[in-house]
Amino acid sequence: MSAPMTLPPDETAAATGPILSVQNISVSYDGGRSGFWAHASPVKALDGISFDIFPGETLGLVGESGSGKSTTGRAILRRIGVTSGRILFKGRDITTVTGEELRQLRRHMQIVFQDPYASLNPRMSVLDTVAEPLIVHGLVASAEEAREEISELLRIVGLPRDAQDRFPHAFSGGQRQRIGIARALALKPDFIVADEPVSALDVSVRAQVVNLLQDLQRDLGLTLLFIAHDLSVVRHISHRVAILYSGRLVEIAEREALYDTPIHPYTEALLSAVPVPDPKIQKGRKRLVYRGEIVDAGHWPSGCHLHGRCPHATEKCSIEPPPLVEKRPGHWAACWHR
Ligand SMILES: Nc1ncnc2c1ncn2[C@@H]1O[C@H](COP(=O)(O)OP(=O)(O)OP(=O)(O)O)[C@@H](O)[C@H]1O
Ligand SMILES: [Mg+2]
Repeated sequence: MSAPMTLPPDETAAATGPILSVQNISVSYDGGRSGFWAHASPVKALDGISFDIFPGETLGLVGESGSGKSTTGRAILRRIGVTSGRILFKGRDITTVTGEELRQLRRHMQIVFQDPYASLNPRMSVLDTVAEPLIVHGLVASAEEAREEISELLRIVGLPRDAQDRFPHAFSGGQRQRIGIARALALKPDFIVADEPVSALDVSVRAQVVNLLQDLQRDLGLTLLFIAHDLSVVRHISHRVAILYSGRLVEIAEREALYDTPIHPYTEALLSAVPVPDPKIQKGRKRLVYRGEIVDAGHWPSGCHLHGRCPHATEKCSIEPPPLVEKRPGHWAACWHR
């Protein structure tokens, strides 16, 4: 069974509608070659997920490694095709756009990658790196022509003016991620997928980069899909949070509702791993650890994908997948027992 086609709008949504609507999408990867001749069957990485994102909103997307977070981002940005379902951007079906239409679409949707060490070309100056999208889209003929514009972008992301003529190796991880963010902003996109943008950074600079993204989101009116491994990273930046488990959305809600009154057992387990600042409270907390590991794509069990690890699971959970339903106003979860 798949998730419902749409999720309820918040108050801004009634007026404008979602900027992005992901409707029941599934994605499979080519299984590759299993023997000398045989090709393994495709591996399903996303299984009918649906959510909307509204203009100016940050949606946090959280899940364990292998749950399908990057696949969701790639599908939205049309870097990978879907096997079923639809993706609407500003009301337009973009599920199968190609060629010039796709190129134009890419001006409006950008990505900030996880690893600022691997995603920047070490042989390109900061000027060339940030100007490249402008050149690719024919908006300027050369990086030099964009010098003033790039200088302003670097100011916005908190890099010194003279950064333009330096190379990535001259910057720290946090500064490199700022370069990546400036590059993503160069085309003045409306929508950005930030795929674990701080996971590769030193803990001490993570908050600065998250705060920068939050400021940019607010000041430039951006819409953000902010992908993260754990719930502590997305707490302050997200308006709503969605939880992914083994290719399915298990819960989605406004931030406060999700952190204060989670519904799904898996969300409870993720939350129990988030440290709280008060040592007295922290000491009295019990961490819920689920036995076993997330099941790899291609080896999902029947029923609820979590049933083998969930202490509340019953026979029904091993047979029938629970649909994502609105358990409280605006708060959706997929669990038979909650
Ligand atoms: N190119 C690929 N070919 C085959 N399988 C893939 C490919 N990319 C991802 N997968 C599989 O799809 C599933 C989801 O992967 P995805 O990268 O979306 O997870 P993720 O949640 O982003 O994980 P991480 O936190 O490690 O980045 C995983 O089981 C993964 O092994
Ligand atoms: Mg990923």
